[in-house]
Amino acid sequence: MTLASPIDLIARREGRGDLPAVPAFNVIGLEHVEAFVDAADTLQVPLILQVSQNATRFRGGIRPFAAAIVQLASAASVPIAVQLDHADDVALVREAADAGVTSVMFDASTLEFEANVEQTTMVAAEMQARGIWVEGELGEIGGKDGAHAFGVRTDPRQAAAFVERTGVDGLAVAVGSSHAMMTQEAVLDLELIAELRDAVPVPLVLHGASGVSDERVAEACRAGVRKVNFGTRFNGAFTAALRDALSEYDGVDPRVYLRRGREALAADARHILSLFA
Ligand code: G3H
Ligand code: ZN
Repeated sequence: MTLASPIDLIARREGRGDLPAVPAFNVIGLEHVEAFVDAADTLQVPLILQVSQNATRFRGGIRPFAAAIVQLASAASVPIAVQLDHADDVALVREAADAGVTSVMFDASTLEFEANVEQTTMVAAEMQARGIWVEGELGEIGGKDGAHAFGVRTDPRQAAAFVERTGVDGLAVAVGSSHAMMTQEAVLDLELIAELRDAVPVPLVLHGASGVSDERVAEACRAGVRKVNFGTRFNGAFTAALRDALSEYDGVDPRVYLRRGREALAADARHILSLFA
């Protein structure tokens, strides 16, 4: 099946009163990709696979890893989109486009508003001309450096101006979640999500969903979120499974423990996808 664009997947969910949104899972290694595609196939739920700029640095570049993701995602029996996530390196964005991703998230959220607008506008125009869906971010969601920025919020009027001026296709908003949480204690501002939905004509994206409970994810989607990003919880599941496997195995075959890690990723992915089934 050819790769999907996030907008196709979002459109398919429109009108689904239960959960009108699409899940996006961050991948770090092949085990993640294999586990998530397998879970999507099993539950027949479309999804977005994302590789962050940080993860591409770990992999030593985007091309070989993106090629593997595109290959595995294209072999799935449900539509899957492939996105470059949290990129601020324009050269990497261009390489990702060359490598076949269907969307990019350009993250200039740490910059002042005008600088964010300027850079995001340039990236959006160039990527959209190549048929790529572009997500921008306004209101730094925080937590990527370990500190949780629960207090930051995206202003709806500024968000409307940002979307109009940049022409982005989707907008990551700060509404109470924070990256890299291992407990689901984030409290989302549902009223703000509804205000942003009314003010902004493009899909809203919730980042840091590892810190959000299933019920709150569902509430956020009903209030207006259309794409939900999950990453850190998979790190927790994978690492716990490897620790567990290694505690009872003193051999040297990596397949023994990587298989357990991959199974743990798939199990957690199935749980999340079942919410979107
Ligand atoms: O962009 C990726 C997501 O926002 C993932 O956040 O790792 O806190 O789940 P998380
Ligand atoms: Zn994020």
